[in-house]
Amino acid sequence: MNPPSLLPILRYPDPRLHTVARPVQAVDERIRALIERMFATMYDANGIGLAATQVDVHERLIVIDVSETRDEPLVLINPEIEWSSPEKRKGEEGCLSVPGIYDGVERSIAVRVRALDAQGAERVIDAQGMLAVCIQHEMDHLLGKVFVEYLSPLKQGRIKSKLVKAQREALRA
Ligand code: NI
Repeated sequence: MNPPSLLPILRYPDPRLHTVARPVQAVDERIRALIERMFATMYDANGIGLAATQVDVHERLIVIDVSETRDEPLVLINPEIEWSSPEKRKGEEGCLSVPGIYDGVERSIAVRVRALDAQGAERVIDAQGMLAVCIQHEMDHLLGKVFVEYLSPLKQGRIKSKLVKAQREALRA
C-alpha cells in the first residue's frame, strides 16, 4: 500500500484559518482516510498536533502526538471540553500554520475532553501538561482561532507582515 499523501497546510494569515468547523457527521472510511493523511502531514512537518481546519477541511477533527517517540497517535473527533482547570500557566507555543513563530499563551494546566476516536467510540481524556496545552490549541483552530490572536495587536501585525513577506519570497524562489 502506498503511504498516505501529504496535505498542504494553510499558513497564517490565510483567512480560511478563521473558518468555524462543523461537527463530523459520520466516522466512516472518508474520515479515516483523512485521519491517515493528517497524521502523515503532521509527522512530516514535525508537529505535535494538527486540526482539520489547517488542511482546509472544516470539520471537527484533530490529530495529536505529543510523545518523544512519535508513536502515540491520538484522534479527537467532535471534541468537547468538559472541564478545564481554573489554574492557568503561560507557556511557549508554536503552530504549523505560523512557521518560525513562538510566543507565550496562557492556558489551563489540565482539561477533561470528551471526543470520538477513529472507530467512532466515545472517549474521555484527562489531559495535563503538554497534551492539555495541545488540545486547547487545536480546539481553538476548530473555532477559527490561531494562537497569535492571544498576542498584542502590535505583535500580530509584525507576525503577519513577516509571514506574508516569507510567502512572497518562497513564491519567487
Ligand atoms: Ni496550530
